[in-house]
Amino acid sequence: MKLEEYQVWQGKILEARLSARVSHRGQYEAQVWEAMSYSLLAGGKRIRPLMLLLAAGAVTGECAQSVFDRVYPFAEALEMIHTYSLIHDDLPAMDNDDYRRGRLTNHKVFGEAIAILAGDGLLNLAYETIFEALLTDPAPGRLLAARTIAQAAGARGMVAGQTADMLAEQQKATPEHLDFIEENKTGQLMMAALLAGAQAAGAPEDAILSMRKAGRAMGKAFQIQDDILDVEGDAAELGKRTGSDAENEKVTFVTVYGIQKAREMVAELSADAAEALKDFHNESGELLREWIQALIYRKK
Ligand code: IPE
Ligand code: IPE
Ligand code: MG
Ligand code: MG
Ligand code: MG
Repeated sequence: MKLEEYQVWQGKILEARLSARVSHRGQYEAQVWEAMSYSLLAGGKRIRPLMLLLAAGAVTGECAQSVFDRVYPFAEALEMIHTYSLIHDDLPAMDNDDYRRGRLTNHKVFGEAIAILAGDGLLNLAYETIFEALLTDPAPGRLLAARTIAQAAGARGMVAGQTADMLAEQQKATPEHLDFIEENKTGQLMMAALLAGAQAAGAPEDAILSMRKAGRAMGKAFQIQDDILDVEGDAAELGKRTGSDAENEKVTFVTVYGIQKAREMVAELSADAAEALKDFHNESGELLREWIQALIYRKK
């Protein structure tokens, strides 16, 4: 199967499942659900959930609907958490951005209060979705996957990275501080995609270690590429404004080391990620490696 075929095939199913999750309205809370679905269903590349499914496929040796069916709730939860992090990241108190996923940011449409609540709503819906899945099948690997997602999203993971990012504005950050930002604010949810996918599918220990390693490298590469695109990307294609980092005086790989070095780092880390996945000799494993390599050249 071609990578694009996989993305279209599972992308459609994922889209429908996410849509069903945010279909609730209600007399007094309709607005927060509308705001949640506004951002969740705004497109987005769906990299994390689609990679989570492939990680499950790679460790089971199958690229099949039956494998994906068992792990969708984890994939959906990850996309909800990612979307909430974007809503909050765009708020005036953080990056103060007006466009996201090709449309106005959540707070521009619904106001800051509802945007904060929509983020809160998506975060909690993610865990509700995971708990429902665990009630249906509480296999140990699925419990580990749930913990992985909670840890990666929290104050030792993405929230830690976002904190370090905010505190680094307008100050001279050390190389260690910068690494911490790049590894955590984005890297953690990316890592969680591969690790939780493997765990939820009941992978053995060595496969889990490989996925964790690959996820870490890929996540850092992905954020450095995001920093590059903030400088030289096309806003229409990205669906978000460029030049935001410079305006906010962000400390990024590009501002500290320059574009050329940043590009080299992306290529190096992506090669490390693909190398960590070399033993998955099956269709899902191949698709995963191909996708990770393709991310080096992504324009959005
Ligand atoms: C954007 O993530 C923000 C970062 C964490 C770097 P994506 O580039 O995956 O954004 P969407 O989900 O496609 O909108
Ligand atoms: C955001 O990093 C990471 C999270 C939302 C956790 P950025 O602030 O660089 O992401 P963009 O560029 O706004 O998408
Ligand atoms: Mg930010
Ligand atoms: Mg931002
Ligand atoms: Mg950015």
